[in-house]
This record gives sequence, structure tokens and C-alpha cells, in this order.
Amino acid sequence: MNFTGIDQITHGVEDLSECVRFYEDWGLTKVSVDDNVAVFKTMDGSEVVLCHTDDPALPPAIEEGSTMRHVVWGVKDEADLAVVREKISGQESYGEVDGCPACVDPNGLSVSFRVTQRHDVDVKGSPMNTWDQPDARLDLPSTFYEKAEPVKIGHVVFFVSDLAATEAFYTDVLGFAVSDRYPGAGTFLRCSTPGGHHSMFILETPDKKAGLNHVAYTVRDIHEVFGGGLQVDKCGWKTQIGPGRHPVSSAYFWYVENPAGALAEYFTDEDYCTDKWESRDFQRSNEAFTEWAVAGGIDFNTRRQRVPE
Ligand SMILES: [Fe+2]
Repeated sequence: MNFTGIDQITHGVEDLSECVRFYEDWGLTKVSVDDNVAVFKTMDGSEVVLCHTDDPALPPAIEEGSTMRHVVWGVKDEADLAVVREKISGQESYGEVDGCPACVDPNGLSVSFRVTQRHDVDVKGSPMNTWDQPDARLDLPSTFYEKAEPVKIGHVVFFVSDLAATEAFYTDVLGFAVSDRYPGAGTFLRCSTPGGHHSMFILETPDKKAGLNHVAYTVRDIHEVFGGGLQVDKCGWKTQIGPGRHPVSSAYFWYVENPAGALAEYFTDEDYCTDKWESRDFQRSNEAFTEWAVAGGIDFNTRRQRVPE
């Protein structure tokens, strides 16, 4: 069976109001904010929930400080939810949270499953005039975005303490597919086939410390990656690296430091995989991570690369 994707993520955060400012600037829609909880959503209804790190309602953290505390994966309907319940019922940590099956993955992360609350979105990327299709955009200037409005949460990325065990949980138990690998170091997993190249990437470093690496938000086209990145630079948020392009997945990216934990990424144009996609092995390297990239980002005011401090 296929999952529909990431339905909801919850972060425990040290500075809630700073995080609210970040997600407003990031381009999410504010659903509700009070002293204890803030809820934002992407265009298609994927939810980002923010709570204080010491909120007793939160599941245990996989690392200190602001980080991801819970992921909800969506399924199409109640029948699929019953299938997931069956799949995870053998897990020692299996339980029910608000009527939804839940468990803890081998990395210590709390996960649950629900009938998706996301919805179709009718927006389009700007066509590219290419050699073979020079008039794909006919008598029309291309798009320039003043800010990004992410369509959905595309993928989550974690440092894991046991790569083999975590990969086995997501593939053997849940049925995710492996799109590509850094053998012995990382696995790109997709939750549906056909589907985008990865909905989850897990990475084991020599210290084997669990943690959040980043959360990636899907935008419409490369121009929205640029427009979004420039806007968050203007708002004072720090780019770690971007714009750039990944050889693995082919996507264009822009990574920004996120007060809710680790990094947030705008991305677009990832590979789309059917059963015919053949998983590849890559050596983990600079060249595998970036075809090209701008370290530190682009200054909104000068429209030039930020001079390293
Ligand atoms: Fe990413």
C-alpha cells in the first residue's frame, strides 16, 4: 500500500514566538497561535505544530533543544489505516493515539498514522522554454516570486543511531521503497510508488547521534526557490547553503537555519519514481550532495552572494 505523504509534523521549540515569526516569513499559513501551541499549514493542508520543548503532551525528544518530536504519515482511507495498524501492531511501542495507530521508530522518533487531511491544490509552476519546446511559455514573461508559499511538506531528514534498523523499519514494516543509498551511511526512502524521490532520508554519522537534519518544503518551481530564499534573507534568517542543486534527486534547493530545529529547505523538481526506478549507490561526498551551491546564500539587497563573515 502507499502512504499519501507527511500529514503533520510537531516540533518542540525553545522560543515559540521566534518560531512563529520564522514560519510566517517562510510562507506557511497561520492556523492558530496561543501561549503554548502554534499551528501552521502548507497550501495543501500539511500541518506544522509547534509546542514548548517541555510541553508534557510531547513524546520524548531524540536530541536536546528545539527539534522534531512527532511525525504523522497520511493514508488514503480507513481501510489503509487498518492495514498500517496491522503492520505496526507487532512493535513493542505500538499504541493508539486519538484513535490513530502509533509507535516509536528505531531512532526513538514518535510516529503515527491517520487518514490524510491534505487536499488537492490547483497551482502551476512556470513552464520552461527549452530547446525542444521553445514556446512552452508563449508570449508570457516567466514568474518572479516575492515570497514562497510551500505546497506541501516534501520530506524529513534525520540523523539516526542505527541506519540498518531504521531502514528495516521503514521498508520491511511500513513498506517504503529505497530510491538511492549512500551505502553504510544513508538511505533515501519514498513512502509511495509512483512518488517523489524521497519523503524521508536517514543518515548515520560516525558518532551515531540521533537528531533532526532538516525538513523540506515543496515549492512550485525553481523561481519560487529563489524568491522564497531571497525573502527569508530579507527577513534576517540565515541561509546555510543555497540556492543549489542536488545530484541525488536532481532537485534545486535552498537551506535556511530554523529556530524550530536544524534546517528548513525549499526544494523543487525532484525525480519522480515508478516501479521502473532503479536504486543507485553513491559515495557520500561533496559532489554527491551538490552539483553546485552558494554557501551562505544570496543577499536580498545586493542580489549577489553574501560575502562570508
Ligand atoms: Fe532535503
